Amino acid sequence: MEKLVIQGKCRLSGTVKASGSKNSALPLMAASLLCSSGEMNLSRIPDLKDIRTFSKLLDYLGAETSYRENTLNISTAGIRSVQAPYELVKQMRASIYVLGPLLARFGHASVSLPGGCAFGPRPIDLHLMAMEKLGASISIDKGFIEARTTGARLKGAAIDFPITSVGATGNALMAAVLAKGRTTIQNAAVEPEIVTLCHFLNAMGADIHGTGTTSLEIEGVATLNATAFTNIFDRIEAATLLAAGAITGSSITVTDVDPSQLSAVLGKFEEAGCTIISDTDAITLQSPDTLIRTDVIANPYPLFPTDMQAQWIALMTQAEGASHVIDKIYHERFNHIPELNRLGAHIEIRHNEATVHGPGKLTGTKVMSTDLRASASLVLAGLVAEDVTEVLRIYHLDRGYERIEQKLNSLGAAIKRESYQEFA
Ligand code: EPU
Repeated sequence: MEKLVIQGKCRLSGTVKASGSKNSALPLMAASLLCSSGEMNLSRIPDLKDIRTFSKLLDYLGAETSYRENTLNISTAGIRSVQAPYELVKQMRASIYVLGPLLARFGHASVSLPGGCAFGPRPIDLHLMAMEKLGASISIDKGFIEARTTGARLKGAAIDFPITSVGATGNALMAAVLAKGRTTIQNAAVEPEIVTLCHFLNAMGADIHGTGTTSLEIEGVATLNATAFTNIFDRIEAATLLAAGAITGSSITVTDVDPSQLSAVLGKFEEAGCTIISDTDAITLQSPDTLIRTDVIANPYPLFPTDMQAQWIALMTQAEGASHVIDKIYHERFNHIPELNRLGAHIEIRHNEATVHGPGKLTGTKVMSTDLRASASLVLAGLVAEDVTEVLRIYHLDRGYERIEQKLNSLGAAIKRESYQEFA
């Protein structure tokens, strides 16, 4: 296995580029399944474990994928299977994204149930509800979701989500674009990744209205065409890099971003005493002498993202006073807290609320995490800790951060990637 060995107490400076968004790339890859001829050309696709896993899934289904220098070509003309196997789905829950497109194009999809998640329950009932509304019959057989259309095609329907779900909105959209007739989606997610999916589907020839609002209207079409498309930047990666600047008392710039997609996070950095200078496609963060305690509540976009909650807790370990961090999306997403406390932080957790008592002196040791954003929070803590912090099992980090240590080292961090063996 690999670990990151971080020499703490560094100062960062300079400029770094944001990568393409993982959580936008995955639905774009799934949506490629809707196309029965031609070749998709997706650029700004990050070189990440999750992208490789999803490519493997597409290849398994019979697609042809090739990846070079952040460009992914996908041809889905030769799909020969509609079954997403357990071995791949268990590696990545986002595999559920193939459900809608396979069902819409082939009238049948068989997707392994994803199973547990490191940070608590992550049901898929809303994905299934949307498929049923569109006329699919759903059953669970031997751990697989078996979805079938009753006629040749799905049928347009009114879908009203009781809570906002990025994944269920994406799946409903990908199913509805090839359904017969009109579909409406109420309480749709408005995350930039969903907006991008709508743009991509429309570029393929879909007819979606209301993009960027909670109320979407889709007029089904019979076929969709292959297209070239550029993915958006990764707002969580960009915010994590800015947090690295903030926690180390530094001034850094992240380029190739759209600051408007980070309004809630940038507002919180300002509340914490940071100076933020936003340009059209760049954000500069200057950290204050002393960070100010700042509460956050993680909620759907455009509010503060749950995917930055762990990193914010790491940042608040260095702020003056007690800050409260509530996660309203994933109530149990707090695996990073015991590990941050092992570094010397003083964080209490009650239900879905963490209280971070800062500023605390962190001291490096070996830490381990069980998910992507938790790993990112440990890397941030390692940057400011005394001595050396070793972040173990970084395969979690590699799922969602492209060359993170190289990017941080280019700003002045001292991070090495090393192999190690875990005791059996
Ligand atoms: N939910 C249900 N039923 C469903 C689907 C969701 O109850 O059928 C609940 C979830 O349990 C959660 C809430 O709805 O409480 C929102 O979940 P959502 O469906 O929006 O999450 P997701 O689509 O599974 C994506 C990201 C996550 C990110 C969440 C929230 C991808 C591949 N994943 O997951 O990203 O945390 O939206 O913004 O886009 C990450 O990148 O680290 C990550 C976990």
